Amino acid sequence: MKVKFIIKRYIPELAKNGFDKFEIEVKEGMTVLDALLYIKENLDPTLSLRFSCRMGICGSCGMIINGKPELACHTQIKKIVENGKIKVEPIPNLTLIRDLVPDLQSAFMKHKKIKPYLIRKDEKEQESPTREYKQTPSELLEYLQFSYCIQCGLCISSCPVSSTDEDFLEPYVLAQAYRYCVDSRDEGLFERLEIVSKSHGVLNCHFAGGCSKACPKGVDPALAIQLLKRLILKKTFGLLKEKKGNNIVPPYPEGPNKDKVPKAPPKSV
Ligand code: SF4
Ligand code: FES
Repeated sequence: MKVKFIIKRYIPELAKNGFDKFEIEVKEGMTVLDALLYIKENLDPTLSLRFSCRMGICGSCGMIINGKPELACHTQIKKIVENGKIKVEPIPNLTLIRDLVPDLQSAFMKHKKIKPYLIRKDEKEQESPTREYKQTPSELLEYLQFSYCIQCGLCISSCPVSSTDEDFLEPYVLAQAYRYCVDSRDEGLFERLEIVSKSHGVLNCHFAGGCSKACPKGVDPALAIQLLKRLILKKTFGLLKEKKGNNIVPPYPEGPNKDKVPKAPPKSV
């Protein structure tokens, strides 16, 4: 089957800004990423795109395909082709660097702001862990869904607040803030709520829900944002206590078992 790809091109140094068309033969099982790489390797080596894992894990290949936010490596051409055509565009609401490559730097900087790691008072234990922190399966379920985020940025592409407020903390960043706030091992609840409740934070969300619809990993950032708002309200009315993170597991009755842990194989490079 022949498919025509209409691909956004943006090459600032050549003042190129528009769409290029490429018609290629598509085989069973080919993804949009396969097609883009075929075009780059055989028809136009100047086409720029970002990818890495090719299996829906790294989050590099988020783009707009036939008007919908998708991971190119996870999108079968035969399932989405319309009238023999596929239109491919970069994620909107971010600065475009080139062709299909948006600049995710600002989103990553916002992510850093919300301290996306366990905050603990026992810094010594954290730096040189003696044992793991305790966590029950039900405590894990409190945040598990939100930990599946691969930072692809597709939720940003579908958020009306991100499209009008460049300082908005972004749906996935807020979802990650919630993920750490409810992690039973974390002790940074109030610190993080302070950060996300500032202007351009969680209270700017209109609950349009586009982020959750766009997410390829089922993270549901809109839900996380509403739950984050609930935590902020509880804190405001004095109904929330700063939490003490779970302790480390007690020593094993048989003593330290470090010797029983198999050693890593020697370095080969
Ligand atoms: S929440 Fe979903 S859409 Fe947003 S960055 Fe994470 S994986 Fe991508
Ligand atoms: S290339 Fe990694 S998610 Fe698509």
